[in-house]
Amino acid sequence: MKKIIIISALASLICAGNVVAQEAKSEKQANNAVKFRQSIFQLVRSNMGPLGGMAKGQIPFNEQTMEVNGQRIEQLGLMIEDYFALDTTPIDVKTGAKDSIWKNRDDFNSKAMDMVKAAQALQLVAKNKDESNYRKAIGAVGATCKACHDDYKKD
Ligand code: HEC
Repeated sequence: MKKIIIISALASLICAGNVVAQEAKSEKQANNAVKFRQSIFQLVRSNMGPLGGMAKGQIPFNEQTMEVNGQRIEQLGLMIEDYFALDTTPIDVKTGAKDSIWKNRDDFNSKAMDMVKAAQALQLVAKNKDESNYRKAIGAVGATCKACHDDYKKD
């Protein structure tokens, strides 16, 4: 019996990975969480910038940048669930995040995965030098920003 309890406790630890949903207990903890998650999006923005420039025809398409930045956006996207695991709504923090995120975690996380998948697709398009789809693949990444912001980011 004891063994079973230990094994199932271990299994739940492994399955949960780093993502443990919790409520913020202090102002310091909540403010740090906001800083960290905003940092992720600042890096996402930094990597999206040149891609947007390419899609708009302001700078030439560059496959290497598309691959590298696509990979970074993929990796940053994979961090979103973790960095939003802490529900900061019990504390009065200055944030662009809507409270509804923590009532709709599954939907929010799936919108983060949409960004991951679009960033993966962009890398593939660049790797294959599939030029006719460059603009579309970048646009698809951009669409995932808007889809999430429309629902979960304050204006
Ligand atoms: C899964 C949802 C989601 C996706 C996908 C997403 N964002 Fe956001 N973004 C947010 C939320 C929520 C905030 C507000 C965070 C906060 O203030 O606590 C935010 C904030 C930001 C900010 C402001 C950060 C700051 O310092 O205040 C920028 C810039 C940004 N996002 C850019 C992007 C770009 C570019 C993309 C797409 C390539 C993107 N985001 C995709 C949810 C998302």
